[in-house]
Amino acid sequence: MLRRMGSEPTTLDMFAEDAAQEPRTEKIGPRSFVLRGFALPLIEQVLPALQQVLEQSPFRHMTTPGGFTMSVALSNCGSVGWVTDRTGYRYTRIDPETGAPWPTLPDVFLKLAKNAAAEGGFPGFMPDACLVNRYVPGAKMSLHQDKNEYGYEWPVVSVSLGIPATFLFGGLERSDKTQRVSLFHGDVVVWGGEDRLRYHGVLPLKHAEHPLLGEQRINFTFRKAQ
Ligand code: SIN
Ligand code: FE2
Repeated sequence: MLRRMGSEPTTLDMFAEDAAQEPRTEKIGPRSFVLRGFALPLIEQVLPALQQVLEQSPFRHMTTPGGFTMSVALSNCGSVGWVTDRTGYRYTRIDPETGAPWPTLPDVFLKLAKNAAAEGGFPGFMPDACLVNRYVPGAKMSLHQDKNEYGYEWPVVSVSLGIPATFLFGGLERSDKTQRVSLFHGDVVVWGGEDRLRYHGVLPLKHAEHPLLGEQRINFTFRKAQ
């Protein structure tokens, strides 16, 4: 904290400390929350674990069923991973690029996802899939629902790292009004229960540079897929 050496902390310093320790939770739906900075305490363990995942299953641009190449590059870890190609969206056990199983979910990823879910009102969450998305400036994610999972009783836990993005959070119909939520390095969004199938997306990223991750945003979405 900002504390001058050799002097007693002022009231202002003490408030600053409270602010840093108190996780800020913003409610964006009946069962949807933004947990500001929730990933920050684990960041020094998360980044090397991510590096290892990407050495086994590197980022790649996949094709949508409609034949478009996604602007977002992706990888996965967990017992299954989300993929898309001309035949559709689905979860697979094998990384189609390497022919090997997806890398296992690192313990620190699991810890982050479980703790965030509990904080958002979903204790006992045990994800089996983590989609890792990489956005560079200009990349976006069109409005969609997450509905390739076997059931929807568990939430989606989404962790943002790197440069900021504007998350669009809509309703259960594509045409419903969307809220714009700015997401920053370390923020976690949790949506589940009656909100689990809400449409969401990401606006094209603006140019920015992050001190740890450079000109990119990395997003993890944890789900119970099977
Ligand atoms: C997703 O919906 O898969 C990604 C959301 C995000 O990047 O914040
Ligand atoms: Fe999604």
